Amino acid sequence: MNSVRLDPGPSAPRSCLAVVLAAGEGTRMRSAIPKVLHELAGRSMLAQVLAAVTAAGTGRVAVVVGPDHDEVAAEARAAVPTAKIVVQAERKGTAHAVLAAREIIAEGFDDLLVCFADTPLVAPESFARLRSCLATEGHAVAVLGFEASDPSGYGRLLVEAGRLLAIREERDASPAERTLTLCNAGLMALDGRLALSLLEAIGNANAKGEYYLTDCVALAAAKGLTAGVVVAAEAEVMGVNDRVQLAAAEALVQRRLREAAMRAGVTMLDPSSVTLSHDTRLGRDVVIEPHVVFGPGVTVGDGTRIRSFSHLEGATVGQRVTIGPFARLRPGAKLAEKVHIGNFVEVKAAEVGAGAKINHLSYIGDASIGARTNVGAGTITCNYDGFHKHRTVIGEGAFIGSNSALVAPVEIGNGAYIGSGSVITEDVEADALALGRARQVAKPGWVKRLRDGKS
Ligand code: UD1
Ligand code: CA
Repeated sequence: MNSVRLDPGPSAPRSCLAVVLAAGEGTRMRSAIPKVLHELAGRSMLAQVLAAVTAAGTGRVAVVVGPDHDEVAAEARAAVPTAKIVVQAERKGTAHAVLAAREIIAEGFDDLLVCFADTPLVAPESFARLRSCLATEGHAVAVLGFEASDPSGYGRLLVEAGRLLAIREERDASPAERTLTLCNAGLMALDGRLALSLLEAIGNANAKGEYYLTDCVALAAAKGLTAGVVVAAEAEVMGVNDRVQLAAAEALVQRRLREAAMRAGVTMLDPSSVTLSHDTRLGRDVVIEPHVVFGPGVTVGDGTRIRSFSHLEGATVGQRVTIGPFARLRPGAKLAEKVHIGNFVEVKAAEVGAGAKINHLSYIGDASIGARTNVGAGTITCNYDGFHKHRTVIGEGAFIGSNSALVAPVEIGNGAYIGSGSVITEDVEADALALGRARQVAKPGWVKRLRDGKS
């Protein structure tokens, strides 16, 4: 059997390099951290864009960062470990930024995809459409365009007889060109074999004195090559330059995530009040009441109900669990099926066994709680001695009386009882009753004698 295909044929997948521009200063964010590290649904804009280009089948990724942007480089590597990081030492325009990746472009790819890390909502499908526009139409360049409700500030797409002839930046446009509303979203795909010659031919004789990536369209046309436009919705191509736009982008991302969850079988009583994370995983028939927040890393099993004002982060929740109202699950909370977590209960780094109940006003941290155990109101696992964290281990079917303090490290056996108000500092064996509190003292008539003496 010969597994080598000598002629891959026209249907062979085209290789693709994505160059992600992330060298911007982001001055208008008025932030100590670089713009592209600001988050949408708990994930940086940069990571969001990298996830989208990866989903669009990009084999190789280069990220162009500014000088002193080590955190941006680290974020890119965390998202795509094979990403090539290149530094654009001076900001001289979008074409100059792409050429910072000259060496890797020269390796030779069928498609070169250029995208902006501050344009974070572009869907993988749109990147894929840009690529297939090259493959099927034979264009040298495919540009992502949109109908702008207010085109000011954007490059205009000059289209004649269905052909894209040039992109004119606002500052360089004639009054007639400024009336055009079909605009450049900034993202494009170039034929990888032509890309370097086009990019290197770009000059900076324009109003800003910058090397404009957009000039590659007119240069291609001058060489008798063609360019095409792929039109996207305006909301999808919105750029984020300040915190107002960041909030608008967050709202769009949240709406996408909620709609996807509901279509997959989740009930939300008031969807707009629920905040999801990019990686929230919700099972079928999960019911989410109003005002629930999911931080990163949460998985919820089928049939679980999350009641109002609960906050979950880094938690794994089993099937048919009830949580809240006003519950907090922190990283490492692992709830087995049919667990009940009630109001004002905080759970951190703790496994809670099937059917266990922690219904009121408790802190359970660095602990494991066996199946069917009942933890009474106000129970605290005292896990911290000021230097180190210690574990509390509670067996199955135990009963922890209300307002108990369990001073870790401590173990409580299966079926044991802890008397209410106890401070438990030593291990309790299975089926034992432990009381760690002062014995009650009663003094009959004491108050009456006090009163009689005063009058
Ligand atoms: C660009 C397009 C414009 C389009 C608009 C859409 C060009 C010349 N113009 O204009 O047609 O309508 O986006 O938003 O491409 N960057 C670098 N290094 C640089 C310059 C820019 O990394 O030297 C990055 C920026 O951080 C940003 C992106 O490239 O992420 C776009 O640059 P920006 O200066 O914002 O371009 P616009 O003038 O908005
Ligand atoms: Ca811009």
